[in-house]
Amino acid sequence: MNILVFGKDGQLGKAFKALFDSQTITKNVVIQYVGRADCDLSDANALSNLLLKTSPDLIINASAYTAVDKAENNVEMAFAINARAPELMAKYASEHGATFLHYSTDYVFDGGKSGWYIESDERNPLSIYGKSKTAGEIAVEEVFANVASSHFAIFRTSWVYGAGGNFIRTMLRLAKERDELKVVHDQRGVPTSADWLAKVSLALVLDSQFQIKPFTSGIYHAVPAGETTWHGLACAAVQAALDAGIALKAKPGCIKPILAAEYPLPALRPANSRMANRKLQLALSGGLSDTSNSYNQAQNMSNFPAWDGMVQQYVSQLAKEGLI
Ligand SMILES: NC(=O)c1ccc[n+]([C@@H]2O[C@H](COP(=O)([O-])OP(=O)(O)OC[C@H]3O[C@@H](n4cnc5c(N)ncnc54)[C@H](OP(=O)(O)O)[C@@H]3O)[C@@H](O)[C@H]2O)c1
Repeated sequence: MNILVFGKDGQLGKAFKALFDSQTITKNVVIQYVGRADCDLSDANALSNLLLKTSPDLIINASAYTAVDKAENNVEMAFAINARAPELMAKYASEHGATFLHYSTDYVFDGGKSGWYIESDERNPLSIYGKSKTAGEIAVEEVFANVASSHFAIFRTSWVYGAGGNFIRTMLRLAKERDELKVVHDQRGVPTSADWLAKVSLALVLDSQFQIKPFTSGIYHAVPAGETTWHGLACAAVQAALDAGIALKAKPGCIKPILAAEYPLPALRPANSRMANRKLQLALSGGLSDTSNSYNQAQNMSNFPAWDGMVQQYVSQLAKEGLI
C-alpha cells in the first residue's frame, strides 16, 4: 500500500502525519508526504510526473489554495490548485485503480438555506475561493462518473483548526493584546478539528491493516456535532484559554458581537454554512448503502463529538505547548 499525502505543511496535512506517526504501520505500507517544495501543484506536468513516479494506491489531497480573500484577486491560481490539481489527481486515481480523498468547503453554499445543508443541496458559491472549490468537486465527480473500479470521497468541512494559523489562534492572540474584541455573530457554522477530520477520513476508507475497505464514493459532510457563530467560537476559545490558566486582557464578556456587514472583507461568506453530518455517520457505522438517501431527512443530531469539547481540548493543548 503506497499512500501519498499532498499538503504536508498545512493544518490537515500535518494532522495526517501526526495520525500516521501515532499508529503502528505494517511493513508493506509506504507513506509519502508532499509539500510545495516537492511539487508546485500549479505545475500540471510536475504533478502528473510525481503521480506516475510514486504510483500511489491512496491519494490524500490535503492541499488547497485557502487564502479566501486573496483568491478574489488570484483567480487563476485558486482554480489551478483547487480545481485543476484535484482533477489531475482524480484522473490518475481513476486510471490506475487508486483511491482518492479530497477536501472541500462549506463555502460551496450561498448560506441562504434556513436549515442544515445536506450533501445533495445545490452549490452556489459566493466567492472565488468557493467557486474554485466547487469546480474541484465537480471535476472530481465527473472524472469518476461511470468508473466502477476506483473509489473517491470528497469531505466537505468547515472552520478548520489545527497546527497552523487559524481563527482560534488569531482570537487568542488578539485577546492577549486588547481589552475588547469585535467578532461577527451573524454567520453560523461548525468548527472542525483537523486531527478529528483526518481520523474520520481514514476510518471511512482504511481498515486496521491499512487496506482500502469498501465504502460508498461521493461527497460527505465531515463536521463535528453542534453549531455556533464566529462570535460563539471566539468566546469558547477565550474561555478555554482562561480555564487553562492563560492570562488574557479580553474575557468572553469583552467580546462584542457585530454584524458581518460591519466587518467587510473582500470575499463574501455564507451566513449559514451548517452542514449535516448524518451521511458520514451512517457510512462509518455501516448503515449507508448506495441506494439509501435516508440521510437526506436528517439533521446534525450527532453521535460525533461536539465542536466545543474539541475546541477546549485544542486550546488547552496550545496552552500546554506555550503557543498562546
Ligand atoms: N482552513 C479552513 O478553515 C477550511 C474550511 C473549509 C474547508 N477547508 C478545506 O480543508 C482542506 C485543508 O485545509 P487546511 O486548513 O489544512 O489548509 P492549509 O493549512 O492552508 O494548507 C493548505 C496546504 O496547501 C499547500 N499549497 C497551496 N498552494 C500550493 C501549491 N501551489 N503547491 C503545493 N502546495 C500548495 C500549502 O502549502 P504552503 O504551506 O507551502 O503554503 C499548504 O500547506 C482544504 O481542502 C481546504 O479547502 C479548510
